[in-house]
Amino acid sequence: IDSAAMSNDLLAWYDVHAREMPWRVGPADSAAGIRPDPYRVWLSEVMLQQTTVAAVRGYFLRFISRWPTVLDLAAAEDADVMNEWAGLGYYARARNLLKCARTIAADHGGNFPDSYERLLNLPGIGPYTAAAIASIAFDRPETVLDGNVERVMARLHDIHAPLPDVKPVLKERAAELTPALRPGDYAQAVMDLGATICTPRRPACGICPWRDPCAARAAGTAAELPKKAPK
Ligand code: ADE
Repeated sequence: IDSAAMSNDLLAWYDVHAREMPWRVGPADSAAGIRPDPYRVWLSEVMLQQTTVAAVRGYFLRFISRWPTVLDLAAAEDADVMNEWAGLGYYARARNLLKCARTIAADHGGNFPDSYERLLNLPGIGPYTAAAIASIAFDRPETVLDGNVERVMARLHDIHAPLPDVKPVLKERAAELTPALRPGDYAQAVMDLGATICTPRRPACGICPWRDPCAARAAGTAAELPKKAPK
């Protein structure tokens, strides 16, 4: 099966099964060209690093109700932000969050830059977050590679070489599948697939939109992938 057909199959699955999240725009609105607020995408992606979707939801809603825009957050007192962050852990993330908000206020007139390269220049924004904001908020065909996407790609292509060395290969495989249309939905669809179907243990291959092209399913190796190098 070619990659265009595969991304279409995944997007059709996402149209029905997308998880609702307070920072998301639903697939129907997204297909109609409505984009989520980059501030909300950024805030959620920073909170979701090392924290689950369920744990993030309440923190996210309290943050955006208290600081509805990045300019509001940039003007906040450090201590107030640290207090709202309490419980999410990894406090360097909260300090970087403020630094980034203040840079966007001071140097970008309160607007997030809309390209991967310029997002990457902001404090605290690394390759993952830059790709997530560029694709989800600006619908740029950037490739988002998190743990979910790594697992899905390793299985789809039955790749047994271990992480982390195999990461660039997995990123290349993910990039090949990124469609020119709806890349933001595609990025979120692969993450949802990894979180709900292509799970680390006991993947639900029988109901997977990629069950036919999946090489690990054919080989019976899905549950053992991805391999990790011994520490
Ligand atoms: N994990 C991190 N970001 C996510 C997103 N945008 N959708 C689903 N899972 C995620």
